[in-house]
Amino acid sequence: MKHAVLILNGPNLNLLGTRQPEVYGTTTLADIEQMCRNKATALGIDVAFQQSNHEGALVDAIHNAIGEYHGIILNAGAYTHTSIALMDAMGSVEVPVIELHLSNIHAREAFRHHSYIAPVAIGQICGFGANGYPLAIDAMMAHLGGDT
Ligand code: DQA
Repeated sequence: MKHAVLILNGPNLNLLGTRQPEVYGTTTLADIEQMCRNKATALGIDVAFQQSNHEGALVDAIHNAIGEYHGIILNAGAYTHTSIALMDAMGSVEVPVIELHLSNIHAREAFRHHSYIAPVAIGQICGFGANGYPLAIDAMMAHLGGDT
């Protein structure tokens, strides 16, 4: 069976490329989507790409993943550090989630060190910039196992 992975991006990530390039790099979200599509083609899997600046829309996207996707790669942006709703959504669906950040949140301000996502994620990838996304796809496929 072909695996399908949802790559879900939260607030302000639509501005990647011009947003604080010294922190997040110059790669745009469209570039990252292409990197993910190239990785998916190489692995023979399907990927879907979604972004929202709205917490409830991200909750909806996690709910809607049930029966649609085998895994979610989630960069929840600042909601990582604030959102019990996203944590509860992840804990309410039987879909494994990998937490992703471009920057190393543990090397930044103290308020970024806590993640509501981490306790309900299978793992966290951070600090590798845009390359974290294809890394996360590899990690998800290793977690899911079996045929791709
Ligand atoms: C981020 C890190 C968060 O702390 C921040 O609020 C973001 C981006 C990252 O990808 O490094 O919006 O999730």
